[in-house]
Formats: sequence, C-alpha cells, structure tokens
Amino acid sequence: MYFESSNLLKNLPEQFFVQLSLKVHDYVRKGVDVINLGQGNPDQPTPRHIVKAMQRAVENPAYHKYSPFRGQKFLKEAVCTFYEREYGVTLDPDKEVAILFGGKAGLVEIPPCLLNSGDTVLVPDPGYPDYWSGVALANAKMEMMPLLQENHFLPDYDALSEEVKQKAKLMFLNYPNNPTGATATKEFFQETVNLATKYEICVVHDFAYGAIGFDGVKPPSFLQVNGAKDVGIEIYTLSKTYNMAGWRIAFAVGNESVISAINLLQDHLYVSVFSAVQEAAKVALTESQSCVHELVHMYESRRNVFMEAIHEIGWKSEAPKGSFFAWLPVPKGYTSLDFANLLLEEVHVAVAPGRGFGDYGEGFVRVGLLTEEKRIREAVKRIESLNLFKNS
Ligand SMILES: Cc1ncc(COP(=O)(O)O)c(C=O)c1O
Repeated sequence: MYFESSNLLKNLPEQFFVQLSLKVHDYVRKGVDVINLGQGNPDQPTPRHIVKAMQRAVENPAYHKYSPFRGQKFLKEAVCTFYEREYGVTLDPDKEVAILFGGKAGLVEIPPCLLNSGDTVLVPDPGYPDYWSGVALANAKMEMMPLLQENHFLPDYDALSEEVKQKAKLMFLNYPNNPTGATATKEFFQETVNLATKYEICVVHDFAYGAIGFDGVKPPSFLQVNGAKDVGIEIYTLSKTYNMAGWRIAFAVGNESVISAINLLQDHLYVSVFSAVQEAAKVALTESQSCVHELVHMYESRRNVFMEAIHEIGWKSEAPKGSFFAWLPVPKGYTSLDFANLLLEEVHVAVAPGRGFGDYGEGFVRVGLLTEEKRIREAVKRIESLNLFKNS
C-alpha cells in the first residue's frame, strides 16, 4: 500500500543540491579523485579536550536518564558566560537562552513558532536554503531581499516596498554569510534594529559563522547593538566554531518571548539533547579558546592560498571577509549549474551552483575551503586547464 504524504510535506522546497551531490558520489564510487568543494562540512576533527569531556560525561549514569526539558542549567549558564566574554552581551540563562538540536533545527522551528498561514517573511537571496523550509512548514510567504555585490551582499532596506515592510513579521539574516562570505558591521545591525522596531519585525540572526572573521576583524553579534534583544534573537551553533557538526548542538539567545515560544514547541517535539553532549558543549564554550584561534588562522590561510591561485589564473573575485566560503562569478556564457557541471565532469572539482541559494545566486558558484591547501591549489590548477578565464 502507498500512503500519500501530507500537503505540508508536498509544500516543502525542492532540495536543489541533491542531484549534484549524487553525481559527486557516483564519481567517487567509481574511484575518480574528486576535489569536493561543494559542501559546508568542516573537515577538521573536534578538539581533543572536548572529545575527552564527552568521553568522561558518557560515564555519568545521571546522564543516561532523560535530560531536563529545556536543557541543563549548566549549559545555559555557559552560554551566558560565552556571550559576556566574547561580545559583552549579558543574558538571563532562564529566559533568554534555548538549547537546540543544531542550528538547523532552530531555524526551521522559528517560523512555525511565530507565524500564521499567509504571514510574510523577509529572506536573504542568495541565502541558506533551510530558511525556506521553516517558512514552508508555517505555510508563510517569502519576500526575498536581494544581496547584491554592489551593496557588499547586505540587504538594501530602502529597496523594500512600504507594503512589504508593513506586512513582514519575521526576517532572517546571516553574517558572516553563507554563501557570499560577506560580513556585517554594527552600523548595519543598528539599521536593522531601527527597521525592525518601526515595523515590528522579529529578526533572526543566524550567527553560524560567528567565529570565522578574517584580517583581524571579529564579526559582531547582532545582540551587541542597542535594542536588538527587543526585536530579535541570534542562533549560534557549535558546528563550525568547534568542528562539532555531527554532535547536533546549538542555542538561540535573545528576545524572551521568542525563546519562550521555541522552548514551548520543543517541549512537544523532544526531550532535550543528551546531557553528555551538553556537558561537552559547556567545556567547548568555557575552556581555552586557542583551538578556535587556530581554526580561524587555518581558514584564513586557505582563503589566502585560494585567492592568490585564482588571481593567477585570471578568475577575478573579492576575497571573503569571513565564513569558509568563497563566492565567485561564473565565466560569461554559463549558468551556475552549467559551470558547476562542467567543473565536475571535466576536471572533477565539485562546487555549489549559486542558483541553489536563490535567484540572485545565479551567475555565481560557492567554493567551500574545507580541504587542505595542497588540494585547494590542485583544484585551481585543474580549473586553469579549462582555459576559461585569462581573457575574461
Ligand atoms: C548559514 C548556516 N546556518 C546554519 C547552519 C546550521 O548548522 P548546524 O545545523 O550544524 O548547527 C549552517 C550549516 O551549514 C549554515 O551554513
């Protein structure tokens, strides 16, 4: 018997990257040496002291029981210590912190928490596709905010119509940005808070790449700006900062009413994250941060190697200021998908076609610098052999 899935599931956006990643796996299965720069999966292991903390915590029988609903107090306090230390932001562990099963879970939960059918959400384009999934689950409507190169990939709020601003209930932002590698300033966040206050829009700042800023500039937290807590929340994941993508641990911080809505929905969906993972997360947030500094240094060095190599072959692009992605224009005459297919088929280099991040991603590809420098150089050498750039 075949059971038809619900309209809710049918309403979910198509996963654009599935076809391409199947193709990559096909090549790999056949033994082809693919350099995969198409994904966002950190390549380094979790730092030793965090793994050790987990090993110790697994031995604790108290953690074999259900975790407390809404997470361990010690982790929420560690989150507050982290935000105070890193950003000078003071948070209430009971009211302004929610523990999440990874950032993705939080991002997808928020629209159903706050929106009713037909409500309007402002979404960056290009942007991380999981924002669309939550919007679809809430049966809400997206209004895209184009992120243009001439605006340093920040949305231009003046370009949004008065009607759209009046209707909007929620806005997603993400800096350092996936896929463009752009960063935001506190001035931009202040402009965002002013807009959100005037039009009563809830801002969700996805700070997944918060730790990864280059050239000596630390990416600001949205919550560092006056009035931010009044209009929004920030989602912080341990996936990138501490190479803990497989552990599924993140948190939301900020506006009390939004945190409370997330906690309420999660009360119905889950008990909280395995307490041993929560303990390891506490260790990550509160003990030595030298692993983070080393990681950022490594990504910056990879970025420099990559930018120098593409410059040499005539592929012109601005250097990303943060994240571990580079966002590059495709040569004339190609769509982003054609170009990504060409690189994969001809020289076995996988990149993510920009179109998968939204209409305004067309004309670009995203390169994830998640392999060692030798392989990054090799990837650019392979691309050079196609002779596409010298005269562009
Ligand atoms: C922009 C952005 N936000 C959120 C996430 C979610 O990360 P996680 O679910 O591992 O916390 C990712 C992961 O790739 C991301 O790129």
